[in-house]
Amino acid sequence: MKEQILEKFRSVFGCEGELYAASGRVNLIGEHTDYNGGYVFPGAIDKGIMAAIRVNGTDKVRAFSVDYNEMVEFGLNEEDKPRQSWACYIFGVCRETIKRGGKVEGFDTVFAGDVPLGAGLSSSAALESCFAYAINDIFGNKLDLFELAKIGQSTEHNYCGVKCGIMDQFASCFGKKGCLIRLNCKTLEYKYFPFNPEGYRLVLVDSCVKHELASSAYNKRRQSCENAAAAIRVNHPEVEFLSDAKRVWLDEVREQIPEEDFLRAEYVIGEVQRVLDVCDALERGDYETVGEMMYQTHFGMSKLYEVSCEELDFLNKLARKMDVTGSRVMGGGFGGCTINLVKDELYEPFIAAVKEQFTAKFNHAPKIYDVVISDGARKI
Ligand code: GLA
Repeated sequence: MKEQILEKFRSVFGCEGELYAASGRVNLIGEHTDYNGGYVFPGAIDKGIMAAIRVNGTDKVRAFSVDYNEMVEFGLNEEDKPRQSWACYIFGVCRETIKRGGKVEGFDTVFAGDVPLGAGLSSSAALESCFAYAINDIFGNKLDLFELAKIGQSTEHNYCGVKCGIMDQFASCFGKKGCLIRLNCKTLEYKYFPFNPEGYRLVLVDSCVKHELASSAYNKRRQSCENAAAAIRVNHPEVEFLSDAKRVWLDEVREQIPEEDFLRAEYVIGEVQRVLDVCDALERGDYETVGEMMYQTHFGMSKLYEVSCEELDFLNKLARKMDVTGSRVMGGGFGGCTINLVKDELYEPFIAAVKEQFTAKFNHAPKIYDVVISDGARKI
């Protein structure tokens, strides 16, 4: 990918570009907890976005996407937002940098990625983090990594219509080879946990389904959580985020909020605790508990948070039937992947069964990705 990008940059712009990269992410546990002020437990992966970039001395950005084989040019003012959705991510990152007092002028760029799109591996966060990092560097801005992650998050909010939390951009910026990172999304305190589960493999099974309206359904979940937190706050003013609430406090308001909001909140409060339980279990090398928590998360995401789908539930059930240690839908949901913690000796038979049975039922094959936990945003 590196040579291809550099070569393309030369042929399009007639000079050399500097190379930057950022990664997609996995999340072992802690889903839909980030915007509720809870914990997440992600890591960056060995798939991401790479960009060659160079200041061009004008007030225009010229961006070429290798994957779309498309060139887009845009200015840096609010009204210059490009039509192409991929270019909006880059435009958003420029605008959000400017809003934070950073310098951004015209630049040329060529970029490509190998994060599967729509698989829940945060290809968009990789794109945002790659450009946030690169722009910060080439224009000599001194924004720190958290600020760069927030630039990506605000890009989603203000230019892409998704009211996401900070997890994906955080993982993409802070990723470290061989480590998962537990982040407290309220205080932004974080801790690296070496993750090398001997005797197990982490494998993603991509259902290859992507549901329409995923972003409006996502935003709606977030709204439900905020409603529940507001109701609890009446009795317990210390509840800033839903993650601050005790389960019994939620029960107190059950009659006052719609059943749907209650179920969403029930899931979130359970999930925040599960992240802590998984971190403790990991420190003891207790992978059975880690796996059991993953199944509980799947149950919650499917039945309470309602962000799973038939294909993902099927994959989860099959994993359970085959005694896979842990399995659950990963990321925002509404399609995408399951993440599975599989014993070495079960790996081959599990993959074979998944391919055969999933294809027989849904008439298309799933995709399998082995993940390596890798570094986040960087200059190459
Ligand atoms: C998406 C969002 C994240 C997070 C996850 C669910 O990936 O971008 O902020 O909310 O969904 O955990």
